[in-house]
Amino acid sequence: MSEFDTAPFRARRERLLAHILEQGGGVAVVPTAQERERNPGNMYPYRATSQFFYLSGFREPEAVLVLVAGENPRQYLFCRPRDEERELWTGFRHGPEAAAEYFGFDAAWPIAGLDAKLTELLADQPSLWTTLAVDPDWDRRVLAALMRSRARVRNGIGTPRSLNEISVVLDEMRLIKDASEIALMRHAGEIAAAAHVRAMQATRPERYEFEIDAELLYFFRAHGSQFPAYPPIVASGSNACVLHYEANDRKMHAGELLLIDAGCELDGYASDITRTFPVSGRFSGPQRDLYQLVLAANHAARLEIRPGNTCNAPHEAALVVLTQGFRDLGLLKGSMEELTANASYRRFYMHRTSHWLGLDVHDVGQYKVDGHWRTFKPGMMLTVEPGCYVRPAEDVPEAFWNIGIRIEDNALVTADGGEYLTDGVPREADEIEALMRG
Ligand code: GLY
Ligand code: MN
Ligand code: MN
Repeated sequence: MSEFDTAPFRARRERLLAHILEQGGGVAVVPTAQERERNPGNMYPYRATSQFFYLSGFREPEAVLVLVAGENPRQYLFCRPRDEERELWTGFRHGPEAAAEYFGFDAAWPIAGLDAKLTELLADQPSLWTTLAVDPDWDRRVLAALMRSRARVRNGIGTPRSLNEISVVLDEMRLIKDASEIALMRHAGEIAAAAHVRAMQATRPERYEFEIDAELLYFFRAHGSQFPAYPPIVASGSNACVLHYEANDRKMHAGELLLIDAGCELDGYASDITRTFPVSGRFSGPQRDLYQLVLAANHAARLEIRPGNTCNAPHEAALVVLTQGFRDLGLLKGSMEELTANASYRRFYMHRTSHWLGLDVHDVGQYKVDGHWRTFKPGMMLTVEPGCYVRPAEDVPEAFWNIGIRIEDNALVTADGGEYLTDGVPREADEIEALMRG
């Protein structure tokens, strides 16, 4: 992470403290992810939880942050101590002293002291805010802390009266991206778009899906991304009809389409792009017909992204276009009224058109508030990803069998509409063909 700026993380902690204070004050305790062994002596690549990273910028495992919201607000970090022997094997650790200084905490302590210190920090606090029901080990640890705290009431020490889910506050904060997040996500979108261009150029008949997978992963990493945001989907021919296809091991043939759903994670933030294009560089007639339909749905959905509109409007717009198109192409039969009332599009389009995007590819944030679709506000980030997936069936024209198409872009809600972060890779059929010829 070059030119790492801790200011946004400090600002988020201040905002969280203000929220908790508004609700009567208390203590927030946020743990990071546990390391997991892959096989003896090897760990899975480590990634902090999104919640913990959002508030700290700290990437080492075995860390917990504690924020005390009250008249005398305090911010503490618990982390691994320096250890010459361990650092020889697994690399640099900040250690509490340097971490407190660098990341802007009032104090930091070795993680081994967390349980004892937490009992003290909970004294006379009205409430405890933490991550609940995600990690059973953590739940047990929180309840044990509350039990120790409660055992002290006969000494006249107050104990928290309420246990609150911290994501209720944090998810709302994370839904609206700040300037530093927007800058990172623009960059993540640019890298992923360029990787898709490279993937299109590298695709030709008789290559394997995994060769294109490798191009994507190489490009992401070579441009500073730490991880793919999710395992790339490189799905040729009928594999494109498997929504989260994983194998990526098939040989591609002339005449087929290749669907690639791949995005990188940059300093924690995801991009999430899908393009679908012909393996040999030229769409067939039926492929182009369906492609134009999905592209029209993508265009229609985009037009609905603006402040004040509901977050379901892009999906509704895509459904109208797709239902009409499926009918025009003979995939669905009946009147528009009937088809709409029966949600007949579901046979060929079985996922939603958008999800929030951020630290998590399927990012946090409620879609409905009090039973109503929430409205767009500047700073929200979402995907636009209509598709169609046609499985062979007697009542479906054979020319469309096994065609799977998705066109997915990433949008930022701006003051007057949407900004698209992933337009660096072509979407128009003619542009894709031109790129692949070149
Ligand atoms: N890549 C997963 C999705 O598009 O939602
Ligand atoms: Mn995707
Ligand atoms: Mn997506």
